[in-house]
Amino acid sequence: MKLSNAVKMAHQFLSDRLSNAQYVVDATAGNGYDTLFLAKNTSENATIFAFDIQQIALDKARKLIDNHGFSSKIRYILDSHVDIASYADHQIDVVMFNLGYLPGGSHAITTQAKTTVLALQNVLPHLSLNGMVSVVAYPGHPAGTEEQLLLKDFLQSLPQQTYTVSSYVILNQIHHPPVLYMIEKVGGKADEGTASRKN
Ligand SMILES: C[S@@+](CC[C@H](N)C(=O)[O-])C[C@H]1O[C@@H](n2cnc3c(N)ncnc32)[C@H](O)[C@@H]1O
Repeated sequence: MKLSNAVKMAHQFLSDRLSNAQYVVDATAGNGYDTLFLAKNTSENATIFAFDIQQIALDKARKLIDNHGFSSKIRYILDSHVDIASYADHQIDVVMFNLGYLPGGSHAITTQAKTTVLALQNVLPHLSLNGMVSVVAYPGHPAGTEEQLLLKDFLQSLPQQTYTVSSYVILNQIHHPPVLYMIEKVGGKADEGTASRKN
């Protein structure tokens, strides 16, 4: 396992859990590389919900997925990850957040500290027991620093009876390296009935 890249570390942590996951979410589909990772590492009957607020991102993700032959597993949703729970009437096994802006796209359209935390607050009650969430945050610019700090405050306040939260950062990398947060649901029950579905 190469430890030099926060996204690869997230993939590594999630891969065991994905092998028997049924419902999976890519909360920031972007160019589709994480969606592709999720598609490759789940069973044929798994469903992957790919969220993004930009149609251009979903188009790019769809093209990548189609080229790899995984189209039937993916549902593309042009909406904010704040509303993930509205689209699933079942517990969710794995969620990936890869924060920031679309590589190659507008830097003005980026994840925001408050909505990122709100998205986590909304989705965590719908996580299955042993379900996992990964969040890669990029504190290399002021808005990214604010997002990472707010995220850290929120995550470290989660009750340890219900969630195990950990963080990983490469200490000797220059220029504010990305931070990976991993959240695992270890106790309690996911909400039985979720909010009404949007589709
Ligand atoms: C760093 S990119 C994701 C990279 C992607 N996972 C990949 O493999 O290429 C972040 C993405 O989050 C999207 N985004 C920003 N705010 C969002 C929100 N509130 N809900 C869903 N997606 C959002 C952006 O449009 C952008 O495409």
